[in-house]
Amino acid sequence: MTDRVIQLVQDNSRLIPLNFSAPGNSEVPAKDKHQRRLHDLRISVTDRCNFRCVYCMPKSIFDKDYQFLPHKDLLTFEEIESVARQFVALGVEKIRLTGGEPLLRKNIEILIERLAALRTPGNKPVEITLTTNGTLLRKKAQALKNAGLTRVTVSLDAIDDHTFKAMNDVDFSVDEVLDGIAAAHEAELGPIKVNMVVKGGMNDHQVLPMAKHFKNTPHILRFIEYMDVGSSNGWKMDEVVPSARIVNLIARELAPLKPADPNYVGEVAERWLYADGQGEIGVISSVTQAFCSDCSRIRLSTEGKLYTCLFASRGHDLKPLIRSGQSQAMIEEQMAKAIRNLWTVREDRYSEVRSAHTPQPRDRIEMSYIGG
Ligand code: GTP
Ligand code: 5AD
Ligand code: SF4
Ligand code: SF4
Repeated sequence: MTDRVIQLVQDNSRLIPLNFSAPGNSEVPAKDKHQRRLHDLRISVTDRCNFRCVYCMPKSIFDKDYQFLPHKDLLTFEEIESVARQFVALGVEKIRLTGGEPLLRKNIEILIERLAALRTPGNKPVEITLTTNGTLLRKKAQALKNAGLTRVTVSLDAIDDHTFKAMNDVDFSVDEVLDGIAAAHEAELGPIKVNMVVKGGMNDHQVLPMAKHFKNTPHILRFIEYMDVGSSNGWKMDEVVPSARIVNLIARELAPLKPADPNYVGEVAERWLYADGQGEIGVISSVTQAFCSDCSRIRLSTEGKLYTCLFASRGHDLKPLIRSGQSQAMIEEQMAKAIRNLWTVREDRYSEVRSAHTPQPRDRIEMSYIGG
């Protein structure tokens, strides 16, 4: 029988205790062991999804017997807000909601409203973004905007229906996602980024058609190298399509491209502009050109565990503190210390040290559990 990954995740032996006691100097921005700042908090709000993308939630594992987290284990909106507030006080300026599929979490707009009200130490609002498969955007885009969401990123792996259905494995059609993108655009949730994971032999023939479709639109299409994240997708190096090949292909077959400067330090995507001024694309080269040296991201799982790397096997559980029954002020004081201490000892740089020949640990967290 195949491993039940979530049961491993819930195994307490895989948790690293948090240090609540060492003094955290709240005056100085938190820097980790490689001098990276803490800037970007990703919050997974559900481990469920209505897709079964072959590279993320393969049906063979995420089937009807798969045990998703019970509702009582999920952090409540109040609890998430309380954690996020500590992060914002420590320097986080951007929060991304992920899943699974984050729009499946009931009343997500209430959480967005709470997060949008947070202010940085310099009294600035925080950028609130969300990564979605787009199927619920027609229904929810306006409510998300009204709640204070800044923008959305939509995953779409092909423009050809047959290929897209083979990727999502649940028969969702391209038109439903395109309609979701249109709804997000109408609700002014832009600039909308469209993420395409390129899996060699499956959807790589869709690179040019996707580029053609989104050229001359305000949306930014980003090609993502298929990663060895989690342990259920059966990743193989020869299924990775290097970003350099994609940029060359588009420049040669569609239109010349010129490189653009990053929008901010630590931006994951490398930006390219069409030389004719008709739009922008990006490539995310997590495999062929790792970007750990600027990685300022931390992840909070649906059930309250912190992960300092997407490829971590072990998380740091905040829930015992959050549900300890102490006063909110005491909980938050200890949480702030624990987070600062955790960031200060962080050394992760998985993608930079990965080798195709190194045996991969089998117990890594899944993308559907921790989010993109
Ligand atoms: P914006 O620049 O704010 O639009 O977001 P982003 O570039 O951080 O993009 P997004 O969250 O959409 O991430 C895009 C993809 O990049 C993810 O789905 C992952 O495949 C990959 N990615 C994002 N963060 C990391 C990371 O910390 N490590 C690795 N290895 N890959 C990442
Ligand atoms: N490789 C790269 N990106 C992945 N995602 C999920 N699994 C993988 C993987 N194996 C990302 C995609 C998707 C987002 C939700 O997670 O970008 O759009
Ligand atoms: Fe769902 Fe996104 Fe994973 Fe696809 S990649 S299964 S849409 S969480
Ligand atoms: Fe950051 Fe880990 Fe991704 Fe490197 S592999 S960029 S350290 S999350």
